[in-house]
Amino acid sequence: MAKTRRKIKESLSLVDGVVEIVDARVPLSSRNPELDEMTEGKPRIVLLNKSDMADPNATSLWMKWFRQQGLYCLSVDCKSGRGLNQFESVVRQALAQKIKSNEDKGMKGKSLRLMVVGIPNTGKSSFINKMSGRNRLKVANKPGVTRDNQWVVCKGSNIEMLDTPGVLWPKFDDPAVGDRLAFIGSIKDTVTDPETIAVRLLQILKTDYTDRLCERYKLKPEDCELEPFALLEQIGRKRGMLIRGGEVNTERAANMLLDEYRGGKLGKLTLERPPKEGASHA
Ligand code: G4P
Repeated sequence: MAKTRRKIKESLSLVDGVVEIVDARVPLSSRNPELDEMTEGKPRIVLLNKSDMADPNATSLWMKWFRQQGLYCLSVDCKSGRGLNQFESVVRQALAQKIKSNEDKGMKGKSLRLMVVGIPNTGKSSFINKMSGRNRLKVANKPGVTRDNQWVVCKGSNIEMLDTPGVLWPKFDDPAVGDRLAFIGSIKDTVTDPETIAVRLLQILKTDYTDRLCERYKLKPEDCELEPFALLEQIGRKRGMLIRGGEVNTERAANMLLDEYRGGKLGKLTLERPPKEGASHA
C-alpha cells in the first residue's frame, strides 16, 4: 500500500489531472477515499464505467452527486466506447485553468497529461486502450518492454495519459463495501461463500428490484417478502435445483444467481445509492 501510494504520488508530479475510474454499479464502494488526500487538489474526473450494466436512473443520481462533490464526472462504457466521445470536452472543462496558463505562456495546444487510477477490475486498461485506439497495454506486457512513464496519446487530441494505470486498493472498513465488491465479482467468492453473498445480494434486490427478480425467476411479489435465505430456496425450487428429499440445493442456486447477476441477466442494476445530503460517504 505504501509503495502504491508513493508511486501514485510520484506520477502525480508528471500530470495535470487525474482520471478516477469507478464501477457504475457500486460507485462509492469501488473508490478509495484516500485518493482525495493523495491527489492534493489536482483536477479530477470521475468516470462511471460499466454504465452498460448499471441502472440509468441511479447513474444520473450518482452523476449529480459526484458533481456536488466538486468533481467532473462522465458516464461511460469502455467495452463499446459509449460516452467516450465526451471525454475530451470534460477534460477541457476540468483543466481550464491549466489550458489558460499554457496559453498565457505562449504554449497554446501544449499536451495535457493525465493519469488513470482505480481499484482492480474497474476498466482502467480498457479505458486507456480505447482512448489510444490500440492494444498498447497488452503489447507493453511483453518482457523487455519498459513500462515506466510511457505516454499514450488519445486519438485526435492533445491529451496524453500515462500508459500504466495507478492501481488503488479497495477500502474494506465497512463490511457492506466488501459485500458490494463481492456482488460484482471484484472479490473472489472463495473469500466469502456464495450462499452468504447471494443472500446479501437478495436483501438488496428484493427491495430495490422486486420486479426484475419476479420476472427472472417467475416469483410472485409476495415471495419477495420472504427472508432472503427462504427467497433463495424459492428461486432454487423454481429452477428445479432439488436434491434428495425435495430439499433445495442452495449452493447451486446461489452460484446461479450470482452468475446471472454478474452476466447482466437480471438487467441493468445499481447496488448502492448516493449518500444523503450532507454526508460525503455512504
Ligand atoms: P482494470 O485494468 O481496471 O483491472 O480493468 P480491465 O480494463 O482489465 O477490465 C476488467 C474487465 O471489465 C474486463 O473483462 C473488461 O472487458 C471489462 N470491462 C471494462 N470496461 C467495461 C464496460 O464499460 N462494460 C463492461 N460490460 N465491461 C467492461 P474481462 O472479463 O476481465 O475480460 P474480457 O471480457 O475483456 O476478455
